[in-house]
Amino acid sequence: MGEFVGKVVLITGASSGIGAETAVHFAAEGAGLALVGRDEGRLEKTAQDCMAKGLAKDKVLTIKADMCVEEDVKRIVESTITYFGRLDVLVNNAGQAKLDLLRSETVMENFDDLLKLNVRSVVQLTNLAVPHLITSKGSVVNVSSLAGKRVAHMSFSYNILRAATDQFTRCCAVDLAPKSVRVNAVNPGAIKTPLLTGFGIPAEQIEEVCAKMHPLGRIGQPTDVASAIKFLASNAASFITGETLSIDGGRHAYCARELGTI
Ligand SMILES: NC(=O)c1ccc[n+]([C@@H]2O[C@H](COP(=O)([O-])OP(=O)(O)OC[C@H]3O[C@@H](n4cnc5c(N)ncnc54)[C@H](OP(=O)(O)O)[C@@H]3O)[C@@H](O)[C@H]2O)c1
Repeated sequence: MGEFVGKVVLITGASSGIGAETAVHFAAEGAGLALVGRDEGRLEKTAQDCMAKGLAKDKVLTIKADMCVEEDVKRIVESTITYFGRLDVLVNNAGQAKLDLLRSETVMENFDDLLKLNVRSVVQLTNLAVPHLITSKGSVVNVSSLAGKRVAHMSFSYNILRAATDQFTRCCAVDLAPKSVRVNAVNPGAIKTPLLTGFGIPAEQIEEVCAKMHPLGRIGQPTDVASAIKFLASNAASFITGETLSIDGGRHAYCARELGTI
């Protein structure tokens, strides 16, 4: 138990992957948690994992909500404040990825879907959370992607909209710095979560294929990202804002030799 005792962390996309692991990391520090997702069963599993770290049952609030529904997003902040009375850290993690090229038939549909979930809902939720974060002098961590900094293969819409996440991070950081609210992002490479299975790589080959993408020679794990999120939200990062931190085994620094490799 540490510096997050008595603080409240709101995590979207907490029912799976990076968000679920982030919840467990903050639970181990004693934070009150507001956990958001659409799948109640998987949200409950995350809540149980948090309690297994020693967090009291009344320190975990699960909120079933669809980030693409404005009324749901409003309810997320209202429920958190009604239950805990404060908000210290917002982790904007819920998101999706889709494969496309500019010339794909699906590009406009993909672009609109990803804009709504990966960008618009984050702007809305952050806007609603800001008064509470100003009161607590809290912080925001956005989960972006390597694709915000580099052009990932077959990810036209996702690349553009993750660049928007990075610029959103910088805009918020500058906007909120006078109020002592810090805003940063993490930019993961390929992390072993259910999201990766949507990219057409056979499940048994995912680790091997993704290991080759990263100079450090392995796939990323949710804990790699969760520990960076916790760091950026902590006092250890008190002079860091507007940062987009690569968690990608060095992939952002690497120049691929063969076109068509991702
Ligand atoms: N895995 C990677 O390689 C990787 C790399 C770079 C960036 N990222 C980013 O990391 C974030 C987390 O991804 P992940 O890899 O952990 O994927 P994941 O395991 O598939 O988790 C995605 C989470 O987002 C939630 N979500 C999706 N649509 C939602 C909606 N409309 N409303 C509310 N919640 C919604 C899901 O919850 P429900 O299904 O319960 O709604 C789930 O908890 C994403 O933003 C992704 O872009 C991932």
